[in-house]
This record gives sequence, structure tokens and C-alpha cells, in this order.
Amino acid sequence: MCGIVGFVGARPALGIVVDGLRRLEYRGYDSAGVAIVDGGELLVRKRAGKLANLEKALAGSPDGGAAMAVGTSGIGHTRWATHGGPTDRNAHPHRSADGRVAVIHNGIIENFARLRAELEATGVEFASDTDTEVAAHLLAAELAVLRAQESDDQGEVLAEAMRRVCRRLEGAFTLLAIDADAPGVVVGARRNSPLVVGRGQGENYLASDVSAFIEHTREAIELGQDQVVKISADEIVITTFDGQPSQGKDYHVNWDAAAAEKGGYDWFMLKEIAEQPQAVADTLRGRLSEAGEIILDEVRLTDQDLRDVDKIFIVSCGTSYHAGLVAKYAIEHWTRIPCEVELASEFRYRDPVLDRSTLVVVISQSGETMDTLMALRHAREQKARVLAICNTNGSTIPRESDAVLYTHGGPEIAVASTKAFLTQITACYLVGLHLAQVRGIKFADEVGAIVAQLQAMPDAIAKVLTTMEPVRELARSLVDVNTILFIGRHVGYPVALEGALKLKELAYIHAEGFAAGELKHGPIAVIDEGTPVVCVVPSSKGRSLLHDKVVSNIQEVRARGARTIVIAEEGDEAVRPYADHLVEVPAAPTLLAPLLTTVPLQVFACEVAAARGLDVDQPRNLAKSVTVE
Ligand code: F6R
Repeated sequence: MCGIVGFVGARPALGIVVDGLRRLEYRGYDSAGVAIVDGGELLVRKRAGKLANLEKALAGSPDGGAAMAVGTSGIGHTRWATHGGPTDRNAHPHRSADGRVAVIHNGIIENFARLRAELEATGVEFASDTDTEVAAHLLAAELAVLRAQESDDQGEVLAEAMRRVCRRLEGAFTLLAIDADAPGVVVGARRNSPLVVGRGQGENYLASDVSAFIEHTREAIELGQDQVVKISADEIVITTFDGQPSQGKDYHVNWDAAAAEKGGYDWFMLKEIAEQPQAVADTLRGRLSEAGEIILDEVRLTDQDLRDVDKIFIVSCGTSYHAGLVAKYAIEHWTRIPCEVELASEFRYRDPVLDRSTLVVVISQSGETMDTLMALRHAREQKARVLAICNTNGSTIPRESDAVLYTHGGPEIAVASTKAFLTQITACYLVGLHLAQVRGIKFADEVGAIVAQLQAMPDAIAKVLTTMEPVRELARSLVDVNTILFIGRHVGYPVALEGALKLKELAYIHAEGFAAGELKHGPIAVIDEGTPVVCVVPSSKGRSLLHDKVVSNIQEVRARGARTIVIAEEGDEAVRPYADHLVEVPAAPTLLAPLLTTVPLQVFACEVAAARGLDVDQPRNLAKSVTVE
């Protein structure tokens, strides 16, 4: 998830583009760059790190950035790395070999490896490790073909070249391109990633969201799927990828700048909850090869190393630990390798049995959590192999691991993890499938079938999100309670733990998660008249024994006066009589259900906290990245 800005008008573009990037920095902040066209020249500056580094580089240019400061068309990018680490060379814009065209990109080009090999075979040399750079070289090649045909309208030539390139790309992309030979024009394209046009007076804008241009214009056009747009100072032309005239959706933006950054939501957390379908889809994108094999990102382990694994530890903290607890069920089921899940802060102090055939999977959204990092180092000292699941490209944990699978969730700004949890479960499942495949337990068709089930989850999560109003209402009615319990079995147990953690950290309410079957061994004593108990119910199909046991547990707590809030599959009539409040989610295979049942619990915690007047995004005593032990 990167930030993208484009501008064409009569005013100098640089300041407008950099200001826009500042507003988009929440979308990515591991590098930033700009490209400006001035007097038939294309000027590019880019730097790893936050936008401030780019601003320093612009100010420190030999000409003080003056050459860039006069051009009236430009594009800018703030990056959240997916392919290639967060370095100067991987920062966008990426240029064609002749330096005449520059491209910025948000998304993942799934077929980039094939396209790159094809371009390299024709002698193109790549200057970065990104998927984006293929688009720059393909664009230059198409421009060369089109320019040989001679045309007066160089902006239209650029748009046609973009359409031709887009027809070759697979995956998710918003692309903007600027061309030294087409001054006064910026061309954009989108598939599965957002792009909006800002319509100004004698100037126009392109951006990943309206916050980038809201101080200049509030008239916006949302581009549709598979559209290309060409903007100049006084014209906006939209076509399909095939060149047919097309239209976007016009709207007027009422939000203020702060609300725009949050996509109109009151809190980043709500925005991030809403982004979960996209985040899970992006985590799955491009992971299955044409031969039906799971593709990991950076693997410094051989297939033989993976075949030698005789036990797995998943090690992480907080929400990432809960993702590990969910994953254990799938990994053991698919690989038949014993899998233990450990709190990172405990791991190295209990002298775990580790050796060359142990695989330690560390999970971390930030990639900087000190407890997890120290556990990782301990594991490597004991010669175990370490595979990281991480959301932050270039952070310490993936750098120190033997293999990495990135969750492509985009930056998480709210302190409470939401989309990280769902993407971590998804990524762990891919690791489990990969291990099962390498070890010959699962064949390509079986892996393909499970990946297809995973690929159906983003739509199901989106469906859950459309039914959250009753959950919000319920949350508002519970602002004054002192204790809420959460129960579940099997994968529903870690979901219960996660629901309790969310409520504790956001609403400062005493909340505890329990394995439903464990209640009768003690915790049931705390249930009193009216105590709210959130019950996560497994599917009634297939594993109905598990389902029936949870229904019995719900009856037990209800008999002691609990007010039951039941999260169950649509059409589960058996549980309905015991639910004081019923929240239904779409049916899903048991192992995938946490991707759905967690969502109402996130919304619930967020709404209770908001109703208590608390700061949802920055709860007291907590930090987003915990870099102390
Ligand atoms: C809870 C939360 C924390 C983190 C934990 C690990 O909402 O955000 O519990 O999950 O601090 O952080 P990472 O995943 O960055 O290692």
C-alpha cells in the first residue's frame, strides 16, 4: 500500500506533489520520490526513509532543487515495500533505460518475474529489485513502437502505451507515468488498487486518495476497474484498457483533511478493519505459481532443509501470538509436524530444545519487536532455522531470518492490530501449505483447492463488514460493564483470546478469553447475573462434535446468568435459542473461520472504546512498536 500523487497545471508541481505526499505518508514511509518534467527534461529524486529524507535531498541538490522547482507537471510516491527492500534504488519513481519516462506504482504485479525475464532477454538492464520497474521498461518499449508511427499528440501516445502495458500486467496496480516527450500530461491506470482524480481550475490531480489534493480541490472522480486516465491542465480523459471512452464516478468531498487521511472513518483502526478484505487478497496475491506451488518471498532455505524439519515453534507476541495459535491447528493438520506456539518473551528463558531440524516461525507486524527479535537470535544461536512472517519490508526481524514471507497488509497506524492479524493467519497458512507440499504430503491440486478457499475469504470478510451495525449498537449498550468473558474451542479459542485482548487494550475493560471446555475447571465461578460472555461457535457442518460441545458450554454459562453474545455461522439454528445476541458470519471451512469470526470482535472493541470516549488509535500505556524487552 503506497501513496501516489500526480499534478499538472500552471503552477510549479514540486511543492504540490511533496505536500500531497506528506498527507499520504500514512500509506507508506520506507522511501519517497518525485519526478518532474521541465523543458523536455525528466528530473527524478528519491530517497530511502521518510519523506523528510527526500526533502533534505531536494534542498541539498547542487542547484538547491531549483531545476525541479519550475516544472509544472510531476508525480510523487511514498512507498511501503513489497518487492525489494526499502533502499534508494528500490524507491519510486522508476525510469526507463533512456531516462525519458518515469513510473510510480501501488500494488503487486503478479507476473513481473516472467516479464522481467522477457525484458532481460532483450538486453534490458534492471536498476532495482522491484516489480514496478518492468512497467517502466514495457512503457518505453511501447512508446518506441508508437513514436515510430509519428503522432502530434504525445500525451495520447503515452496514454495508448499505458493501455498496452496494462493489458500485459496481472495483479493489482495503480500506475502513474510521466514522459519528458509529453510535457503537461500525466497518465494513470488502475486495477484492484485505488486511484482518484482531483478536478481543479486549470489544473488537475491524481492520487491514491483525496487527502493528497483536498486543500486544492474537493471535486473528485473515482476511477473504475481497468481504466486509464490522461490528465492535462484543462482536460481529463478516461478510457478502458482497450481504449474505449469511459467514465469514473464524480463526487464532492465533504471531509476535512484529517478525516480524508482516515478515508472518512473516525479512526485509523476502523479504516484498517475495513481494509482487511484487500489486505488478505494482497497477502495471497501472486503466491501460487503456475505449477501450483506456493511462492515465498526470500528463502535462504533449501527444500531439503524444509524436508528435514521435525518440529516447529511459532514465536511471537500479543496479537501476532494469537495468529500463531490459530496457525498451529492448520500447520499440524496439513504437515503432521509437531508445532508449538510460544510467547517470545518467555521462549529463550526456558531453554527450549532447538537444533538444526527445528523450524522457528517468528511473526511480527512491525518486524522490530524486541522480545521476538531476541527469541529469533536465540533460535539461530542454537542452529534452528528461522522463517519470519512480517509486514514491514527491510525491518530487523526479516533481515536476521533465514526466510521471509511478507504479509502485504500495508502500514498499520492504529496501535491495536487488526489487519495484521488476518494477514498473519493467511501467511502462516501459506507456509503450512508450502511445507506440506515440499514434504510430499499435499499435491498441487490439494494446495490449489485450499488456496482457492482462501481466495474466497476477502469477499466473505467484506460481507461480514456490511452487517456490523447491530454489533456497534450492542457495544454501545455495554459501555459500563466491568468484565466481559470470551470463550471458544479449537481455532475459536485463540479468536476468543484476541477478542479479549482487543477489548482490554482499547476499552480498558477487564476481559478474558478461555478455552470453552476449561470454564468448568474454575473460571465459570466468576459468571454472575448479566455477565456478558462472547461465544465463538464453530461450524455445525463437518466437525459437529466440536460445535455441539460449544453449544453445551454456552448453555452452561447461560444457566449461571450470563448474557450470551454468540458469533456463529449463518443458519446455525442449534445455537439460536441460547444466544441473547446473535452475530452471524458466512459459512467457511473450520480452519478459515477465524478470518471471519474475529472481525465482529474488532468492531465491538473499537465501538465500546469510542463510546467510552477513549482514543481508539492510541490507547494509554501502549506503543505500536515495542522495542524493549
Ligand atoms: C495488539 C497489538 C500487540 C502486537 C504485539 C506484537 O493489538 O498490536 O499485541 O501484536 O506487540 O507486535 P508485532 O507484531 O509488531 O511484533
